[in-house]
Amino acid sequence: MEKNLNLYIETFGCQMNFSDSEIVGSLMADNNYFTIQDISLADVIFINTCSIRDRAEQRVRKRLKEFRSLKKKNPDLIVGVIGCMAERLKDKLFEEEPIIDLIAGPDAYRDLPSLLNKVKIGQKAANILLSAEETYADINPVRLDSNGVSAFISIMRGCQNYCSYCVVPFTRGKERSRDPESIIKEAHNLISMGYKEVTLLGQNVNSYSWNQGKEEINFASLLKMLAEVDPALRLRFATSNPKDLSDELLHTIANHENICNSIHLPVQSGSDKILKLMNRKYTRSWYIDRIKAIREIIPGCAISTDLITGFCSETEEDHMETLSLMEWVGYDFAFMFKYSERPNTTAAEKYNDDVPDSIKGKRLKEIIDLQQKLSLKSNMKDIGEKFEVLTESISKRSDEQLSGRNSQNKVVVFPKENYKTGDYVDVVITDCTTATLIGKPI
Ligand code: SAH
Ligand code: SF4
Ligand code: F3S
Repeated sequence: MEKNLNLYIETFGCQMNFSDSEIVGSLMADNNYFTIQDISLADVIFINTCSIRDRAEQRVRKRLKEFRSLKKKNPDLIVGVIGCMAERLKDKLFEEEPIIDLIAGPDAYRDLPSLLNKVKIGQKAANILLSAEETYADINPVRLDSNGVSAFISIMRGCQNYCSYCVVPFTRGKERSRDPESIIKEAHNLISMGYKEVTLLGQNVNSYSWNQGKEEINFASLLKMLAEVDPALRLRFATSNPKDLSDELLHTIANHENICNSIHLPVQSGSDKILKLMNRKYTRSWYIDRIKAIREIIPGCAISTDLITGFCSETEEDHMETLSLMEWVGYDFAFMFKYSERPNTTAAEKYNDDVPDSIKGKRLKEIIDLQQKLSLKSNMKDIGEKFEVLTESISKRSDEQLSGRNSQNKVVVFPKENYKTGDYVDVVITDCTTATLIGKPI
């Protein structure tokens, strides 16, 4: 029998990357490499990388420098770069970062064991082929870094929306949906392991589509099938693209108690001019109409977003439109970024990255400040309300407190009493901060 080897996987980037690391962990376990938590014991390190903004790549490069001392201690240590940065930079990475032995793009993970065999006989090894079909549907992911309560299921891969700023279509290839039967099987597996919540992942889950004979299974029907697997299994999903958010989906959410009332709907900008340049394929008024539909069909639904400041040619007026849209929606939560030009994207090729960094920073601060106010306002409204909270962990601040989330995806902290991780607890909210609701069990 072959010797077991220690694999350490470090993950950067989005939830999809975290989910991919679990697929990699599973593929590698089938080949006698077992994931460990202590990097100093590693025979192989995989760093699963992100290219979304320049800063994401810089963080990976910094980490690679830190691995040098580990390689000095153990010259047999193998360092592999996998994921989006591997796909974007390809063989160039070998020249730029000599510590790297192996490169594998997001669709090449089945090839990792044979790539490692090449490295073991002294070669550098790379596979960056993208696939139109690969969904890793048959792989049952290992659960890394898990609280045993909530898990990710990847339901599709790739993206071909080509938003003009975005590198993802280049690093992840064509959009493809995963066989629904394999998704349901994975949900059953998680339930049997005691999991209580699943987040369905894709870059644009609303365009999920699978042809079963003559019948098309779309995202709403997939969600309905999953909701009916077990009423005690909570469902979440990310990310929705506003252009594809259907009323059918909203009704499906409203009709199922266990589909969470929380929608992440990245708007990016409140200005029609900027949305057009971004190739987002919706307008401000379309977006407003979708928010109205959410409010009408799912009362009490939380809405969160992603925003980019300082995109090419963004003026102060465009920025004001973003601020006014934020106010109008009253987002519960937002991820906010400064525009970072990515090589080969339409924006890099055709438009000027002409907003000075200082202005990007100033506008970013303004949207962050506004969002802080909106988040606090949203949380204050919840004081006195009752929520069902799924307990995820002991609170970071105190052993006597538990931390979980309500359907709206807000973090709720409450006294432990006799409750434990994985329990559903009815909690009344008594206080809050901008980031957390504080309550007590009822
Ligand atoms: N598929 C999702 C987004 C995935 S990337 C969607 O379409 O909504 C996550 C977020 O990163 C994006 O929503 C966007 O706000 C941000 N982002 C993507 N490319 C960026 C860039 N070049 N500069 C700054 N932020 C970027
Ligand atoms: Fe990027 Fe747009 Fe695809 Fe989202 S939808 S991953 S922002 S190209
Ligand atoms: Fe980053 Fe790739 Fe995700 S670029 S955001 S890890 S799809």
